Amino acid sequence: TRDQSPAEGTYELVVVANRLPVDRVTDDDGTVRWQQSPGGLVTAMQSVMTGQDGAWVGWSGDPGEAPEPFDSGDMHLHAVGLTEQEIEDHYEGFSNETLWPLYHDVIVPPRFRRRWFDGYRTVNRRFAEVAASLAAPGATVWVHDYQLQLVPAMLRELRPDVRIGWFNHIPFPGVEIFAQLPWRKHVVQGLLGADLLGFQRRADADNFLRVCRRLLGLHTRGGTVEVPGPGDSTRVVRASSFPISIDAASLSDLARTPEVMERARQIRRDLGDPEHVLLGVDRLDYTKGIRHRLKAYEELLSDGVLAPPQAVLVQVATPSRERVSAYIQLREQVEVTVGRANGDFGHLGMPAIHYLHQSYGRAEMAAMFLAADVMLVTPLRDGMNLVAKEYVTCRHDDGGALVLSEFTGAAGELDRAFICNPHDIDGLKYTIRHALDADPAEKRRRMRAMRRRVAEYDVSRWAGDFLAALDAAPDRP
Ligand code: ADP
Ligand code: F6P
Repeated sequence: TRDQSPAEGTYELVVVANRLPVDRVTDDDGTVRWQQSPGGLVTAMQSVMTGQDGAWVGWSGDPGEAPEPFDSGDMHLHAVGLTEQEIEDHYEGFSNETLWPLYHDVIVPPRFRRRWFDGYRTVNRRFAEVAASLAAPGATVWVHDYQLQLVPAMLRELRPDVRIGWFNHIPFPGVEIFAQLPWRKHVVQGLLGADLLGFQRRADADNFLRVCRRLLGLHTRGGTVEVPGPGDSTRVVRASSFPISIDAASLSDLARTPEVMERARQIRRDLGDPEHVLLGVDRLDYTKGIRHRLKAYEELLSDGVLAPPQAVLVQVATPSRERVSAYIQLREQVEVTVGRANGDFGHLGMPAIHYLHQSYGRAEMAAMFLAADVMLVTPLRDGMNLVAKEYVTCRHDDGGALVLSEFTGAAGELDRAFICNPHDIDGLKYTIRHALDADPAEKRRRMRAMRRRVAEYDVSRWAGDFLAALDAAPDRP
């Protein structure tokens, strides 16, 4: 009941995400510092929250007590502490070994462990309690992503007065796949605590509505679900699509600075002034299709179609989820493949593939995008893929070409890319060649159209649309 609820807070907007926008890192000498957290959620929400007087609830990325609330930039950060065991069960286990593969077309088999779900529930409750204690009466609480699907219902119980939105940054699977989840009803009931559920694509929202009908026997109508409440009452929950985007204007400005443009030229010089620079930028994740991309590239090398020093591939692979077994295996496979390709096809001082397992600042990323003739974005499945949008945004020179997997959310908007099916290695090789060889005027037209699209549908429009829909969602308390 309200009497037992945590104290109300003062924030009119509370964002709840598994991670804070910054990670706490302790160096070997014991120095503690904060660095930008990985991933598209942080890229997008950081620009949304800058200048808003809202709170951001999230985990600090390491085990132990939560630090006291602090400000970063002009964001008010409220950390949630997780123990080592909770990191194993909630984050590495249930979020990233159960839900992540299940929601990405079971590219690797999901693992179902009861202990992990218990940890997920405990941690979700902690996030809900912190959010409940910060939200002002009638505030808006915006919950993010698959790690926090139980939070909406938990929060509604604690604070029935607040508006609750949830946005899924990743795909939502078809009912046949989702049905495998032993805790499928808990998850759906957790989500249905929200007023508005946002998905990347219409198809994801439709998958969710089908799950409500088939697995919970609920009635759906025109993008809404009727949820039985106490007595004869029903609540109406809306499920819609809101394709996420980037802060296009600020990235475009950054890419136009003389420093970034000079750095892009320097990168090409450092690579030996090749004719063709190909680039991949991803978290080192099996959903990103990095192995398929490397296979296609290796075959183009062995077929003699491409060869260093005229062609080089730069693969930036951000360290990610480094203790989860599928990620450990992927890293080994990628590193073996890169080593083999360089051994077989490189020359002294001229590797075939430059592999960088590191994170970079925004300016360096923009310079890499500007330096690349062909950007390879080849996920097997991806909710959106912001890298694709960042690449076209940086190409104010109308140069470059984007090879884009049809299995990304981005392909729904960037249909002037060179679209590929990454499972089809011959098709992928053909598409890479096509992107390299296409008429420059044609490439410029494609790039200009894509850049305009992202400039128009940018992240502030995405956030504005979501928050307006949340405000207008049915059943205002
Ligand atoms: P995901 O959320 O699955 O990681 P996205 O493509 O949507 O994938 O978002 C990735 C974000 O992380 C982009 O903003 C991209 O620029 C950034 N990023 C990727 N790799 C690096 C890196 N090595 N250093 C810095 N930022 C990176
Ligand atoms: O959007 C997908 C996502 O999982 C985000 O939730 C997350 O912030 C990002 O990728 C990076 O993953 P992680 O937080 O596990 O490092």
